Amino acid sequence: MAQCVGPTILLLLLLWLLPRWSSSAAQNRCVDAAEACTADTRCQRLRTEYVAQCLGPAPPGGCARTRCRRALRRFFARGPPALTHALLFCPCGSPACAERRRQTFVPACAFSGPGPAPPSCLAPLDACEHSRVCRPRLLAFQAFCSPAPSSADRCQPDQAPNCLRAYAGLMGTAVTPNYLDNVSARVAPWCHCGVSGNRQEECEAFRGLFTRNRCLDGAIQAFDSGWPPVLQDQLDSHQDLEHRLLQVSSADGPLEGCSMFSMLLVLALQPLL
Ligand SMILES: *[C@@H]1O[C@H](CO)[C@@H](O)[C@H](O)[C@H]1NC(C)=O
Repeated sequence: MAQCVGPTILLLLLLWLLPRWSSSAAQNRCVDAAEACTADTRCQRLRTEYVAQCLGPAPPGGCARTRCRRALRRFFARGPPALTHALLFCPCGSPACAERRRQTFVPACAFSGPGPAPPSCLAPLDACEHSRVCRPRLLAFQAFCSPAPSSADRCQPDQAPNCLRAYAGLMGTAVTPNYLDNVSARVAPWCHCGVSGNRQEECEAFRGLFTRNRCLDGAIQAFDSGWPPVLQDQLDSHQDLEHRLLQVSSADGPLEGCSMFSMLLVLALQPLL
């Protein structure tokens, strides 16, 4: 039986790992992006910092939003853009993936609240225009993500990377945007324009920069189709390893004499996996 220990362990390992790999490889690019960040020392450290700040001990009446947002800004300012942008813009084909994407930047502290209902967009907009940190970032977002003034609905394709950078720059500001649900790729800050009185138009124009913006949508789509090579490499190496493990476990030699033993053990342990 001793000679069966190796193959059995291998089989157990395979059973434990396969669902994790195949789900990520098949449909969850956001998991790939998270794994790539974990594998990078700087990305991992900065992410740990913002998660700690945003989910850490809360003062009475809410989360430490100021510290959370500062840590979030640092993540995007200092993290490798290929990895931080992959986390922010990972393409999704399933609600599970989109939900993960929506939750990645700790929306409960960084994005929504404190009340259950979103405020008028004029509140975050005014806060942003009076903020030394936020104002230049919003101006950059308007400059790089708006359609060219000369051609009302044309977006210059070479502007897409600048638009994504500018959008990422808003993360952790008074107008922090996020995905609105887990079935679409719609984004907006946490606000609405329901009752904005004589500033209705201004409110709609601001919110529309996120919700009805062909240039922003196009830039995110372009990012998705040019999924960063660093992540593609990681995906390929996973699939390669998976393939080799499958070959080993189905090879006749080492497993043949042990198959009964291995199978029984695996069946017994499967509920634990
Ligand atoms: C998607 O969002 C809805 C509403 O917030 C939630 O009830 C549901 O559990 C989410 N789906 C997934 C897969 O997380």
